[in-house]
Amino acid sequence: MIRNLIRIEDVTTQWWDGLYSTFCDILEHPNDYVDACRGKVMASLFFEPSTRTSFSFQSAMQRLGGGVFGFTDPATTSASKGETLADTIRVVSAYSDAVVIRSKLEGAAQAAALYSPVPVVNAGDGGHQHPTQTLTDLATIAQLRGKIGGITIGLCGDLKYGRTVHSLVMALEKFDNVRFVLITPPELKMPDYMLDHMRRTGQNFTEVTSLEDTLPELDVLYMTRIQRERFPDYNDYLRLRGVYVLTKDKLRAAKSDMTILHPLPRYDEMGYDVDDDPRAKYFDQVRYGMLIRMALLANLCNQKRETPHSHPLTTNINCTNPICVTSAEPYLPRLLSLEGGQSCGYCDKSLI
Ligand code: NCD
Repeated sequence: MIRNLIRIEDVTTQWWDGLYSTFCDILEHPNDYVDACRGKVMASLFFEPSTRTSFSFQSAMQRLGGGVFGFTDPATTSASKGETLADTIRVVSAYSDAVVIRSKLEGAAQAAALYSPVPVVNAGDGGHQHPTQTLTDLATIAQLRGKIGGITIGLCGDLKYGRTVHSLVMALEKFDNVRFVLITPPELKMPDYMLDHMRRTGQNFTEVTSLEDTLPELDVLYMTRIQRERFPDYNDYLRLRGVYVLTKDKLRAAKSDMTILHPLPRYDEMGYDVDDDPRAKYFDQVRYGMLIRMALLANLCNQKRETPHSHPLTTNINCTNPICVTSAEPYLPRLLSLEGGQSCGYCDKSLI
């Protein structure tokens, strides 16, 4: 049983198996779940724009018979009057049975969990993680390919700022025989903390720059958008925009049973002519995303309220990541993670 879903590492394979079997059951017998969250309420706090994630959570909760309140524009909330995240969470968790939060600050969901007596779900924190997108991706691969392991997966595009791929790598490494091909220009490589983690845990991966040359070896191609909003210098974005464009023509070189996934939204990295290709599965992925969130909420919203646990490890070293939640919310205790030496317990960036 998990309490909060902050990082995908919170998910064990055993817990995943249970969640996936609920997902399959919902797919077959949706009517059995219409009261699974009757009388429960989900708080939906989107401090950053969203279409799929926010709507899929809302739709999921409503299909389970539960209610939703929240915002997609933080300008309408007391955060715009200077209310701290801790106080916002204490307030909304008093009204709800689960809190779903998206923020541009890395570690925001971890910070929220320190103050919430109800489960907290990370719906994306800056360029750090997006664990429910990963649950979506895993469910899609399992449904469409019959199992998750035994694949060569190409992750293409912005692996530096793209949070979906960080969570996906951490999840896939728990399955047998997964080979990663990281397809990026040097400027958008996986962050060092992720590459260090992949080396330390013995992942089978290569880093390449050409999508065309790599396509024939892939079982799954995971395309991503260049994350314009996360570039400190907009000119860098302008230089890198359009670096990969998947077209119908290029797909001739790919395996006939390759699965094309994309967390969406797309910008210019995937032509509309790809949509008709039977290998294009990103709109199935959207549907599965709502169903896996139903399975997640049915579990989390029915847990008991609990006094939040204090975090076991703290430090007096300040994190230097400018978009770590600790830089915007300075009262937060400095949390330590011992993964790979010493790293920030919110954003996972190295502290040394
Ligand atoms: C992604 C995100 O927000 O990180 N979108 C989503 O949740 N499906 C991907 C993106 O914005 O590029």
